[in-house]
Amino acid sequence: MSLSDMRRQYSMGKLSETSLTDNPIAMFKTWLQDAIEANIPDPTAMTVATVDEQGQPSQRIVLLKDVSDKGFLFYTNLGSRKAKELAGNHRISLHFPWFFMERQVRVCGIAEKLSAAENAKYFFSRPKDSQLAAFASRQSQPIATRELLMTQFHQLKAKFANKELPVPDFWGGYRVVPHQIEFWQGGEDRLHDRFEFNLDTDGNWSSQRLMP
Ligand SMILES: Cc1cc2nc3c(=O)[nH]c(=O)nc-3n(C[C@H](O)[C@H](O)[C@H](O)COP(=O)(O)O)c2cc1C
Repeated sequence: MSLSDMRRQYSMGKLSETSLTDNPIAMFKTWLQDAIEANIPDPTAMTVATVDEQGQPSQRIVLLKDVSDKGFLFYTNLGSRKAKELAGNHRISLHFPWFFMERQVRVCGIAEKLSAAENAKYFFSRPKDSQLAAFASRQSQPIATRELLMTQFHQLKAKFANKELPVPDFWGGYRVVPHQIEFWQGGEDRLHDRFEFNLDTDGNWSSQRLMP
């Protein structure tokens, strides 16, 4: 079968004006809970898009670790490509690809670094081997072999066998403070439902229906 012949109908649900909440974060939480309860793999996985100095976008998947009215939280290496791009341009976009549910959510916002206390709280909630892996990896830097990475990991494991690791100063989290959130629900014959929320300067959200 050629790729151009691959298609399916989207008929799981409809999204109407009456099903919207005033606050898109509340609606996001409901959709996230739906994804968790649907047992899809990695329901908290989101694509994170950043832009470099030349305006070149790049994307990668990270895990959402918290969401509230203040924003969306994720953790990463602060020397990584994404972190370097955010240092030059803090505009960011998140995308939740819940296609199993015929849904997607797009978030546009500004990325802020979390405090040392917030980083430490999450770092120490992780399994120790995940802490060690974060310590052992200079994410996004070249390394000659996997063996070298494993050697670094095992050396750190031995060094910190009986003591707590410090939070690496090259590791931490970001809060994405949103100003635009779009909810997309697939519809039959490609007549999808889309609602875009925008935050005004007074801090109020308004929504509008977009054509599919
Ligand atoms: C399911 C999944 C979850 C991931 N979660 C994270 C994460 O929470 N934090 C992270 O830094 N990288 C995570 N990664 C790895 C990133 O996709 C990416 O490879 C890494 O952050 C380096 O990205 P960069 O070089 O563009 O900065 C995850 C990858 C996958 C596929």
